[in-house]
Amino acid sequence: MEPPPQIVVDGVRKVYETPSGPVEAVARASFTIRRREFVSILGPSGCGKSTLLMMIAGLDPASEGSITVDGAPVTGPRPEFGLVFQDATLLPWKSALENVLFPIRMMRREVAPARERAMRLLDFVGLGGFEGKKPHQLSGGMRQRVAICRALVHDPELLLMDEPFSALDAITRDEMNVALMDIWDAYHKTGVFITHSIREAVFLSDRVLVMAKRPSTVVADVTIPFPRPRDMSIQEDPEFNRICGELRARIEEGYARAGEARGPRRSLKAFA
Ligand SMILES: Nc1ncnc2c1ncn2[C@@H]1O[C@H](COP(=O)(O)OP(=O)(O)O)[C@@H](O)[C@H]1O
Ligand SMILES: [Mg+2]
Repeated sequence: MEPPPQIVVDGVRKVYETPSGPVEAVARASFTIRRREFVSILGPSGCGKSTLLMMIAGLDPASEGSITVDGAPVTGPRPEFGLVFQDATLLPWKSALENVLFPIRMMRREVAPARERAMRLLDFVGLGGFEGKKPHQLSGGMRQRVAICRALVHDPELLLMDEPFSALDAITRDEMNVALMDIWDAYHKTGVFITHSIREAVFLSDRVLVMAKRPSTVVADVTIPFPRPRDMSIQEDPEFNRICGELRARIEEGYARAGEARGPRRSLKAFA
């Protein structure tokens, strides 16, 4: 028998009350994610991706509907969640190692065994020897790698990532995709990854959920069939490009539904 899904998002809606009236950030979202699945949520800017992730993380309550993780409703952040944001948000006065250990100290867990794990993680992402460096001594890609190690240091069951590589240049971003893939193969947790890059989503994921704007909802759920471990060469595969084309078409449909005129050129550029 199939085990029950780990994450269940059921009829979730989010409305923000603002001085200029209510803003519907997520109109309706329903989907499930299995344990150890890596799922990307792909969609244009402003379609509610971050809001959805914050609700799954327990950092923002849903206005309607329910979210459960491992059968229990999410009512706040949990130790089994690990989070990575677009900005690495490292503490500037602390070393890379101390930044990675920060959640351990916050959770008042034993530091000695965690230090070993932190060092292994840093080594794994190619930062062996950099553990004593401060954030300003590291490149953007390195800082983001530290942030990923920090999210994994307490061995969370669930890694939630909100456009972690969006601020990086294209080459660094490719490197980070490969690094994340390697981490995934080694640690194999459940992953929810927000992005507006089609290729990044297809490369990394077992499934891609496409979100549209107005109404903000999930319009497609596409399974990515490539076996793991994967490397960059799958991006040359005609099937890879076929799937990217299919996802692009679903995003275009989303624009059309929202009544937004977006010529293909502009859209292609936005989703390169
Ligand atoms: N705290 C907030 N208060 C009011 N409106 C918000 C807030 N957060 C997000 N929004 C609005 O909700 C919509 C979705 O935002 P967001 O989830 O950040 O989208 P995405 O991450 O896909 O770019 C946007 O229109 C945004 O302006
Ligand atoms: Mg966002």
